Parts: sequence; structure tokens; C-alpha cells
Amino acid sequence: MRDVADRLDDLRDAGLYRRLRLIESPQGPRVTLDGAEVLLLCSNNYLGLADHPRVRQAAADAAERFGAGAGASRLISGNMSIHDRLERRLADFAGYERALLFGSGYLANLGTVSALVGRGQVVFSDELNHASLIDGCRISRAERFVYHHCDLDHLAWGLRKAGHRGALIVTDAIFSMDGDVAPIAELTELAHRNGCRVLVDEAHAIGSLGPDGRGAVAEAGLGGEVDLVVGTLGKTLGSYGAYVCASAEIVDLLTNVARPFIFSTALPPPAVGAAIAALAILESQPGMVEHLRLNGATLREALAENGLQAGPSRTQIVPIVVGDAELAMALCERALDGRVFAQAIRPPTVPEGTSRLRLSVMANHGANDLRAAARLIAGAAAELGVGTSTAGPGHPQQVLREAA
Ligand SMILES: Cc1ncc(COP(=O)(O)O)c(C=O)c1O
Repeated sequence: MRDVADRLDDLRDAGLYRRLRLIESPQGPRVTLDGAEVLLLCSNNYLGLADHPRVRQAAADAAERFGAGAGASRLISGNMSIHDRLERRLADFAGYERALLFGSGYLANLGTVSALVGRGQVVFSDELNHASLIDGCRISRAERFVYHHCDLDHLAWGLRKAGHRGALIVTDAIFSMDGDVAPIAELTELAHRNGCRVLVDEAHAIGSLGPDGRGAVAEAGLGGEVDLVVGTLGKTLGSYGAYVCASAEIVDLLTNVARPFIFSTALPPPAVGAAIAALAILESQPGMVEHLRLNGATLREALAENGLQAGPSRTQIVPIVVGDAELAMALCERALDGRVFAQAIRPPTVPEGTSRLRLSVMANHGANDLRAAARLIAGAAAELGVGTSTAGPGHPQQVLREAA
């Protein structure tokens, strides 16, 4: 057994050591980071709802009415009327029969994939899927087929090979580190033609894509046809927790067999109350979604004008792929010197050799701030001799090996 200190040294030597940074203000477009005010360019609080006065108030009201915690899992004594209310709203919002809350998006994916497939079946997963989907596939004990990023031919080949054992295709809607969008209509068609279900993780697409920010599945006109839609409450909806939307029958099964649902305390009422309020704001103010889209376009254009390409992103997630992990960290620190906070993302979050700054815009960023940040990052990149990849997501062999 290797010593803990040795392992930490190995991480430092590889440029992969991580430390926590400290934020001392609410999650707005500017935050106080380690004592200094910086422009926040790496948050998933895309519409700024985590700090919205009505969302804060709703969390406080829910704490007053229901208390701070749920005290037990949903199937014991933790199932409260506020959980039921949010589930009904989420199901309506997404156009599904039922929704089921989970403790987080990570737990939702872990629990849902492992509840739906098992030994003797095959689960199909995009090579750039989020770790929670990868881990869900791993613990399911189903055989895994990891298809090349958004490669429908490769997937179709895998489906043919799997024959009747093919059971489930899982994909991010917006890929979390690249900002590109999965071909959901084609995936769904392929899945159903081959007798498979399809699960789409809308973690980054709610509030960003589709009519009034209803997500990528709604954008593709497939609400209710995609078998399962996962969403989180911790990103656009400014709170914490997650949900799965599906048919009443699938939700019934998840309620009975999804282990992270069964063996974990129900979401705290303030988090649920905050999410209900955030959803109401999203539904009543679609202009915020339009602002987010415009800001994404502004940042991508400003980066391009300054010689930095953001790959195939068409969303609020704008990656600048640097390659080397230490170089990505150096670029991050240079940006911070100029009061722009964009955390470097390194393996294992992204494949080896594709370390990056993952910029993400918020609806309430100012266009001039985004343009200034693009100039600053491009200047720092030039000074460091960073040549960015314009090819977008490549073929990350390490992820393939890990997840295959
Ligand atoms: C695509 C995707 N799915 C799931 C999650 C996990 O969600 P949560 O933060 O609610 O655990 C993330 C988080 O980054 C994500 O990017």
C-alpha cells in the first residue's frame, strides 16, 4: 500500500495537485476570492439564481415552515409535501409523467443507471460523459460500450454487436467540459430502433437550451420521448439536489431500487423551496435565457477576435484547451492576477493532454466585462506561448480505457 504523502507528491509532480479556493461572498458575476474581488468565469450558476432575492427568501420561508432538514430518507419519514410539490413542478416543466428528487446530480446518475441496467446487459456511454454517468455505468455491472464522442456510426456498430443485450444509451446533453451538444434526436431514434432506452443528462442545458430554457430534449422536440431526463438543482436552478423525469412506471422502479434514493436523507426543505422559486423565475422570465445565450456568443466572439478558439461550443460553456496541466494552471494564475477567475480543469476531469480553462458565462455578466476578460486571457496565453487546440474534443484514450 502506497503512502499518502507519496501519492500527494505524485500529484504535485504531475501538475495535478488540487487545493480549495475560498469565496467569501454570494455567487454573483463578481465574487470575493481569497480576499480580492474577481470576475467569476467558472460558475454553473448560469442565470444568477443562487443569489436571487426571491430564491433566498424562498429558502428562508421553507426553513421557517418545514425546518432545516428532512430528518430521514423519503421512504422512512422524510417525505414532505414540499418535495412532492417540487417533483410535480419539475415533471410539468419537462413534460413527463413523474419526477423523482435525488441528493445531487452525481447521485441521480449513479442511482438511475445502476437501477436500470445490470449483468448480462450492455450500456452505451459517450466517451466525454460526466464522471457521474461513467461511475453509474461502472457500478451497474452491465457491460460498457464507450462510443467515440457523438459518433453515431460507432454507436450503431456497438448496438449491432450487442444485439438483444443492448439496454440503455446515456449522454450529457451539453457536454460539461466542452460546451457542445449531443445529437439527441439521432441518439433517441437509434436507441428505440434497437430496443434500448435513452437517458439524457440536462445538467448544463436547463436554463440554457430549448424554448424558455427547458433544455436540449425540449429543443429537439422530444419531451416525453427520451425515456429519462436527469437535471440538477445545483446549477441553473441555484440550489442543491437533482431530479430524474420519466414515466410513472420508471419512477416507481427507481423509488424501489435506486440505492442513492433509498439509503440517503431527503433533500433539506430550504434547498427544495429555493429550487421551486428558481423554477418559477425561469418560467416567468425567459429573457434571462436569451441573455445567457447572448453572453456566450459575446465571449466566444471576443476570444476569437483575440486569436483564441473555443472549439465546437455553441453554449455558455466556453473551453480554451491548453493541453498541458501545468500550463493550464499557469494560465489560470495569470488570469487571476488580472482579477478574472477561471479555474483550470485537468485530468481526470478531462482527458490527458486536454487541460483547459473552462470558461462559463452567466446571464448577468456585462458584455464589456466579458470582452475585457477575453483580451486579458488571450494576452496571458500569448505570453505563456499557449497554442490552443481548435479541434475541439479529441479522442481521449485515457477516458476510453478507464470507462471501457
Ligand atoms: C453533466 C453533469 N451531470 C451531473 C453532474 C453532477 O451534478 P451535481 O453537481 O448536482 O452532483 C454534473 C456536475 O458538474 C455534470 O456536469
